[in-house]
Amino acid sequence: MDQESFDVVVIGAGPGGYVAAIRAAQLGQKVACVDKRPGPGGTCLNVGCIPSKALLHSSELFEQAAHGLAAHGVNVGSPTLDLAAMMARKDKVVADLCAGVEGLFRKNKVAHFRGAGTLTGKNEVTVALDDGGTIVLTAANVVIATGSDVTPLPGVKIDEARIVSSTGALSLDQVPQSMVVIGGGYIGLELGSVWRRLGAKVTVVEFLDRIVPGMDGELAKQLQRVLTRQGINFRLNTKVTGAKFIGRGKKGVRLTLEPATGGDTETVDANVVLVSIGRRPHTEGLGAVAIGVVVNESGRLLVDDQFRTNVEGVYAIGDVVRGPMLAHKAEDEGIAVAEIIAGKAGHVNYGTIPGVVYTWPEAATVGQNEEELKAAGVDYKVGKFAFLANSRGRANATTDGFVKILADSQTDRVLGVHILGPDAGEMIAEAVTAMEFAGSAEDIARTCHAHPTLSEALREAALAVDGRAIHA
Ligand code: FAD
Ligand code: NAI
Repeated sequence: MDQESFDVVVIGAGPGGYVAAIRAAQLGQKVACVDKRPGPGGTCLNVGCIPSKALLHSSELFEQAAHGLAAHGVNVGSPTLDLAAMMARKDKVVADLCAGVEGLFRKNKVAHFRGAGTLTGKNEVTVALDDGGTIVLTAANVVIATGSDVTPLPGVKIDEARIVSSTGALSLDQVPQSMVVIGGGYIGLELGSVWRRLGAKVTVVEFLDRIVPGMDGELAKQLQRVLTRQGINFRLNTKVTGAKFIGRGKKGVRLTLEPATGGDTETVDANVVLVSIGRRPHTEGLGAVAIGVVVNESGRLLVDDQFRTNVEGVYAIGDVVRGPMLAHKAEDEGIAVAEIIAGKAGHVNYGTIPGVVYTWPEAATVGQNEEELKAAGVDYKVGKFAFLANSRGRANATTDGFVKILADSQTDRVLGVHILGPDAGEMIAEAVTAMEFAGSAEDIARTCHAHPTLSEALREAALAVDGRAIHA
């Protein structure tokens, strides 16, 4: 059996793993990165962040052409959809970015092994290579970055044709007449938006009494209102208890619904059902538990604040460990773990990791929300500013939403920022920077913002913390 030795072996080439591999190589280590997918980039690049954002952008252009342009005096008639071309563009974006990561591996001399890696000892990863054969990689340090996978729903078996996960929903070959989305979180709202814009009648079934749990309650409520206006139907406090195929050749699915707290059942038919009730850590076939790595009750690998598992020389980062399952969180941990392995002071500030739902308008958030501050008994002030009063929002005809800044009543330190609005995902970066520097609302309020821009709404919200917004 072939054998090769490295300083660092990374299992998983997602945003956590490939970034860790590149940073370790930059720091002079001999690095290998193993992934069973043909293209590096993990879930995020292959079947997650990137293809979903490509479809979100394309479908928004379709929506604008159909409904948004006439108000600007641009008449294009009734647009037609070439779904195959839309999907081909999305696939090319993914392929080009995968090639980009491969190029970065070559540039940084990271050895890329395509195959499934199994920990066969604390310093040993055995790779069943995709094109046949096996190789044993040894290293003083192994980083597990195997990410996450779809959480299944009992009674609703995914076939990736009629009952799909996000992966199937990113590649449907025709627009379903109707789609039921199970779960009103990140994936359900983003991919539900895509297919609603392309013509499907979309219903979101959510177990809780609200959508996007974890985000600020007021922001979630307003987002639901706007999405409802766009045509998405919401069924809150409802659970799906079963599914069966109906019609010839499985033309559709009949779902059984029940109130979340139990009660009378009803059925709902849909052409396609999307299961998006969360993701779970991906540790199947990894061999981590077999070599003694301890996992928590939800199956995530337990690590300390330096990403060390309980097994010496074995680290873990990204979706497979605690914290939000977000690509930028995985990337930050990838950089930090590589620096720690190289004897430097790698660090991640978990208090300033933004979260963005890329619907239209976008919902972006960082820091604590009102519910969390209330629960913690923190005395805070609120500054809010609506895009309706923002001149650029008016000029662009994008007036839905608001910026909300939560600041400590005594110190004025920014504790959380919550934005529902156009380009909120870009605007949140300013708030993250302010919080990273322990900034106050006053700091943002005194910062000059170009006019006319959407980001002026952030400044106005900062002024509003002290009741002195100019345009409200
Ligand atoms: P992953 O990206 O999951 O990568 C892990 C890799 O490890 C995979 O390629 C897998 O094949 C490989 N692997 C697993 N086990 C083995 C093994 N034994 N041997 C070899 N290889 C193995 N996050 C955002 O921040 N923004 C977004 O817009 C966003 N959109 C998303 C949209 C969708 C539809 C989905 C599903 C997710 C989205 N996410 C988004 C979440 C994001 O994709 C994840 O948080 C991120 O990919 C986690 O990175 P990771 O490196 O931990 O793991
Ligand atoms: P999620 O955790 O965001 O949302 C799942 C939703 O399903 C929750 O609202 C939950 O209450 C609900 N739910 C759970 N069980 C249910 C049931 N039985 N019936 C009905 N509803 C139920 O998970 P999602 O959307 O699957 O996404 C997984 C993760 O991927 C996200 O949490 C996020 O970390 C990441 N992601 C990030 C994106 C981004 O950053 N823009 C986009 C897509 C995914």
